[in-house]
Amino acid sequence: AAPRLTVTPIGGRIGAEIGGVRLSGDLPPALVDEIRVALLRHKVIFFRGQDHLGEAGQVAFARLLGDLTTAHPTVPALDGNTHILDLDYRGGHKVDRWHTDVTFVERPPLASVLRALDVPSVGGDTLWANTVAAYQYLPKELRDLADRLRGVHTNAYDYVRVAASDDPERSRRYAEVFSSTIFETEHPVVRVHPETGERAILLGDFAKRLVGLPGTTSTAVIKLIQEHVTQVENTVRWRWRAGDVAIWDNRATQHRVVHDFGDRPRRLHRVTVAGDVPVGVDG
Ligand code: SIN
Repeated sequence: AAPRLTVTPIGGRIGAEIGGVRLSGDLPPALVDEIRVALLRHKVIFFRGQDHLGEAGQVAFARLLGDLTTAHPTVPALDGNTHILDLDYRGGHKVDRWHTDVTFVERPPLASVLRALDVPSVGGDTLWANTVAAYQYLPKELRDLADRLRGVHTNAYDYVRVAASDDPERSRRYAEVFSSTIFETEHPVVRVHPETGERAILLGDFAKRLVGLPGTTSTAVIKLIQEHVTQVENTVRWRWRAGDVAIWDNRATQHRVVHDFGDRPRRLHRVTVAGDVPVGVDG
């Protein structure tokens, strides 16, 4: 029989480590299906020791999961590869608050494939939260409210932080692209997962307000729901080694880096699989 993956859960509600596979762009379809099933079930999955992969290998593997987006709607791609977002934390761009990737566009990504190139010996872990479990554990009254709400997601604030970055050339390039590309997009606060049918909270750091609620109320309700999403029981924390690969279902998770590594180098490459328009509970 074909070799099977090993899937070892590492959190009670989210996260599994996958063994028994050397990732590449030409995995057999049955194996890709197994990876897909593990991803849908555990929301974020981790592969150790994928040092062989390289940039081209990462892109080729990610393609097995779906069409790819360009690296990022506003951040310039890595020179020489339009699909790779270079997350070099010595540069300007970083989001160190809980977020779901790129929710400010109409079709937020389906998944991200993140590969660690250079990580600090201590610090710089990444946390993921399960937004399906978050919905399930909300008190019913809050679930009913969330079902009806719509959020406005924007990248507008991002610009200020990046412009203030300490790498002038990077900031200049980023500002050039970004200043003409401000997105503001409305999504349901509860989305029905297109593959599992599960309901998931869709908020995170790009969600700036709720439609129809006054500003302070809107901020308070977002904060209230986000506290449920990010409660520790709902999360998993990954201690990176160079060569690790993480894949998360961007429709069912939020994540954030733990920025406790000061100026130590930390660099990862992200490749993003294209997603669809989030659909709320009423279709
Ligand atoms: C991200 O926010 O997509 C990257 C997370 C990380 O650098 O750990």
